[in-house]
Amino acid sequence: MKSLISKVNTHFERSFHYQAQSLFQAPGRVNLIGEHTDYNDGFVLPCAINFYNLVAASPRTDRQIRVLAVDYDDQVDSFDLDSAIEPHSNYLWANYVRGVVKLIRQRFPNISGIDLAICGNVPQGAGLSSSAALEVVIAQAFNRLFDLDLSPSDLALIGQQAENQFVGCQCGIMDQMISASAQRHHAMLLDCRSLTYRAVKIPAQLSILIINSNVKRGLVDSEYNTRRLQCEQAASLLGITALRDISLINFEQCSKQLPDLIAQRARHVISENERTLCTEQALNQGNISLLSQLMTQSHSSMRDDFEITVPEIDFLVDLVANFIGDSGGVRMTGGGFGGCVVALIPHDQVDAIIALVNQHYGAVSDVAADFYCCHPVAGTSELQPHE
Ligand code: GLA
Repeated sequence: MKSLISKVNTHFERSFHYQAQSLFQAPGRVNLIGEHTDYNDGFVLPCAINFYNLVAASPRTDRQIRVLAVDYDDQVDSFDLDSAIEPHSNYLWANYVRGVVKLIRQRFPNISGIDLAICGNVPQGAGLSSSAALEVVIAQAFNRLFDLDLSPSDLALIGQQAENQFVGCQCGIMDQMISASAQRHHAMLLDCRSLTYRAVKIPAQLSILIINSNVKRGLVDSEYNTRRLQCEQAASLLGITALRDISLINFEQCSKQLPDLIAQRARHVISENERTLCTEQALNQGNISLLSQLMTQSHSSMRDDFEITVPEIDFLVDLVANFIGDSGGVRMTGGGFGGCVVALIPHDQVDAIIALVNQHYGAVSDVAADFYCCHPVAGTSELQPHE
């Protein structure tokens, strides 16, 4: 974190020729279980991880916004609060910022301009929510610099809307909520309908190991949006508001009235909601073998019913699952079509699993895997600007 802080400050000063007034952070996340349940009003169980997006910022006296992307060769986007805010024609990263600023301006038309430098170490395109962390940290910078009194849920909703409207991914609320509201040392059981949540402790004997398959994720947004439409279709055919509103037992009695593919998608979501609630209990009780089963079932359901895994990810999950047995759990995490695997494993198995993956992953992949051993951190906050 220290080196990130000095990097973002140095680049701010070099480009804007003065020192930034304030500094903010928002973390990435890993989802332990509850995949594609958030936009079905369901339950998720993510935790924020020790990888961050940072923003160094100063308010301006005029209505100009200048944004410096340190991780993109210091590209700069500048625009004006008195003109229409449209998507940027070249810089994809800029749209996350523009989307958030546009929504903030809608609610607070009198805010002034701002200079921002962004820098982060959340792996991008890996399913660890680097974009949500970006949206949330930008919203937080405005919130604090202009005393907007936005709650963590407000910050999350602004981030989600920005992504829905400006980037075109119809994502749910999980990623932004955990980045905005996470509690240190805890995962979070979030009800995505009411946005209420409970902190959940991860049993002391388990490490969180994330394995990045480094599979380039293609067609993610379009496949994601298709899944979302299929879920909405299922809910409407079942005559319910959202897939959250039916139990698995009731669903199995009426699933025949749905086209096969739609029933398959719905079954994943409905069963995943139940698994997520059970996982909260398993974690609270320290019941690792139950946790292990639930994560395995979650992965099979994503692979067979929701069809969002890829062979490399299935390979990694099988490899780790065979090694750990019921001493821990492993599954794909995030939106799917590549990305990462999350494993909750005894501390003394971490090195062995890294070695195992390094030894065998070459059988299915030309690129090596990356590993992040993480711990649960707190959500977005203001930091000391010049430590
Ligand atoms: C992405 C989305 C989230 C969620 C997950 C799948 O991360 O941004 O809203 O739907 O996929 O669980």
